[in-house]
Amino acid sequence: MNELLRRLFFLPEQGSTFAVEVDHLHYFLLLTTLAVAVGIGAVGISFLVRYHRRSASDPTPRVVAPGWMEGLFIGVPLSLFLLWFVLGFKQFVWVMSPPQESLDVYVTGKQWMWKFTYPGGPSAIDTLVVPAGRPVRLLITSRDVIHSFYVPDFRMKRDAVPGRYTDLWFEAPKPGRHGVLCAEYCGLDHSVMRGEVVVLSPADFGAWQDAQRRNLPVAALPGARTPESMAVRGEHVATAQGCLQCHTVTGAPHIGPTWLGLYGRMEPLEGGGAVLADEAYLTESMMDPLAKVVAGYAPVMPGYHGRLSAEDSGALVEFIKSLRPLRPGTPAAEEP
Ligand code: CUA
Repeated sequence: MNELLRRLFFLPEQGSTFAVEVDHLHYFLLLTTLAVAVGIGAVGISFLVRYHRRSASDPTPRVVAPGWMEGLFIGVPLSLFLLWFVLGFKQFVWVMSPPQESLDVYVTGKQWMWKFTYPGGPSAIDTLVVPAGRPVRLLITSRDVIHSFYVPDFRMKRDAVPGRYTDLWFEAPKPGRHGVLCAEYCGLDHSVMRGEVVVLSPADFGAWQDAQRRNLPVAALPGARTPESMAVRGEHVATAQGCLQCHTVTGAPHIGPTWLGLYGRMEPLEGGGAVLADEAYLTESMMDPLAKVVAGYAPVMPGYHGRLSAEDSGALVEFIKSLRPLRPGTPAAEEP
């Protein structure tokens, strides 16, 4: 039935769990708008027949509708609008809330290619390899201009903005290949800025990961920081950029907040409120540190917009993430 409808409406393959939901909403919107259009058409035609002037001497007919009918004309569209809103908002919230156990992958748009980086290394150009049946969270940014990461089979599209991370998650239920397009005009070769998502079975994905790891310069154990890993690169960036002159990694506050345990914490803000220190906040704090100043600290940090590349800011975020004090009994985070 689902497959039949999909073909009937000329929609691309449903490559993710989200695609099925989006298509259901799409059919529902089409059917209800069609029903409303037919209803309004029928009422219009019946009014034409019923109220038309039969001769020049006729008085102009007055349309008199009983109160309940007026109520119906207002109530039906209003409840439909509200229902569309509720259904759409539920999907919006769902797609904005990646599950905890997601596999993180950094996506960097660049004229005119997509770069995919796994926090534990390695990175790949234009081909994103993911396991089936596991949620994958993409942290999307751009190195130059605004691009838009678009996977039609997943019904997903998200802008890639320089100096900022946007995120997106999906779960592909079965192995397959799905095209990636850039959906924001970004220059001469915009139309060839294509990539591919390759979904492997969990076993094949494990084998692929092992093969990747074997190709690393130093044999890496699962969960270990490899020389290729973004966290290690982030540590170098932090030293080179002088971050560690103001931020400690030991837990002691200095000129700026300590990075130990910063990721995932709620930080109280100067002027009230609090913010969750996630990828988006950490990146914003590098690019525009005065946008949200943590309470108790002087607003003295310079902005790094234009001074940190997308790769470097992502690496810094991964370095800060790696400084999470492990609770006793917590297994070391699995690094892909
Ligand atoms: Cu990148 Cu269009």
